[in-house]
Amino acid sequence: MTPERPEIGGSRIDLGVEAELPEGAEPRIHDARADRPDRELDSSLRPATLADFVNQAQVTEQLEVFIEAAKKRDEPLDHVLFAGPPGLGKTSLANIVAQEMGVPLIQTAGPALEKKGDVAAFLTSLEPGSVFFIDEIHRLGRAVEETLYPAMEDSELPVVLGQGPGARTVTLPLPPFTLIGATTRSGLLTTPLRDRFGVTHRLEYYDAADLAVIVRRSAELLEVEIDDAGAEAIAMRSRGTPRVANRLLRRVRDFAEVKGKGAVDLEVAEAALEMLEVDDAGLDRSDRALLETIAERFGGGPVGLSTISVAIGEEPDTIEDVLEPYLLQLGMLQRTQRGRVLTPRAFEHLGLPVPGGGQALF
Ligand SMILES: Nc1ncnc2c1ncn2[C@@H]1O[C@H](COP(=O)(O)OP(=O)(O)O)[C@@H](O)[C@H]1O
Ligand SMILES: [Mg+2]
Repeated sequence: MTPERPEIGGSRIDLGVEAELPEGAEPRIHDARADRPDRELDSSLRPATLADFVNQAQVTEQLEVFIEAAKKRDEPLDHVLFAGPPGLGKTSLANIVAQEMGVPLIQTAGPALEKKGDVAAFLTSLEPGSVFFIDEIHRLGRAVEETLYPAMEDSELPVVLGQGPGARTVTLPLPPFTLIGATTRSGLLTTPLRDRFGVTHRLEYYDAADLAVIVRRSAELLEVEIDDAGAEAIAMRSRGTPRVANRLLRRVRDFAEVKGKGAVDLEVAEAALEMLEVDDAGLDRSDRALLETIAERFGGGPVGLSTISVAIGEEPDTIEDVLEPYLLQLGMLQRTQRGRVLTPRAFEHLGLPVPGGGQALF
């Protein structure tokens, strides 16, 4: 192990960024992207093994088989892509894979890899078999992405030496490694990159029962006393997202300590969630602002993303990555060629009359 390589007690170095909120921005209670305090909460609550990873059985069962097989052959695991909205467990799974393979994990993120040289520096310093984890991989630049192709395919790194007519390319051999990519927007990945992943897993929103398991597990780790009804109340309003469930649990605990007897039961959970303005569909103020704006100012749509963005003062990326996926999943919103359209369900949820009795929109 070379001394200049930052090592890695628990065999993991974090040299990148998670999807960042703007500096100083207070995250919405339901913004499933990681902010700074969350990152601490995340790492203290992060499941360490596949067995700890709740639900998503279609993902974990397959991974288990691939990991077994790779270990038997004494080869690194095939490159893996995890796709899905923020907070569903992509980073956790990357860490679990490294852990289960018994190899180091080196982490970075698409926006941190600006030049070919950045990615070359990572690749040439990998220990054989390592997991190289690139978060937000859809945000890689073209040139960096192209550097990855031969690395992923043949464990080779072409390097151009010199300039002009005298320039020549030499090919450096790389240690075998597993690239794990995570993306909230698999649609933005280029086909050549996507095709180079042997395995792609799409993480789905969790149902309330699984989230309740996660809440109870987190409560135990955080030493919060919580009963089943309290855990279920939090689970039901967590937008299908473990990170949100953990964040709500922390806020509900604070509430319980200040206003209650310290323990979380149904009454305390509901009072806290009410104070946090999380409604019974699990929507928070920003979700409702989006729906209300489309309903009241744009007649239910269709309305374009950029118009909505200006109207509610949210970044288009936040709307697409964080707000919309869950509203689409709930069937309150649709994306059409001409823009976003509310469904009758959204009007009902907002307590507004459905235009045309629900017929006109469809
Ligand atoms: N399947 C799961 N079981 C238990 N906890 C989970 C699970 N998925 C996510 N979490 C929790 O949610 C947090 C956020 O997960 P993370 O892997 O950082 O999500 P992502 O990288 O997809 O944004 C983790 O720290 C962990 O506490
Ligand atoms: Mg992550």
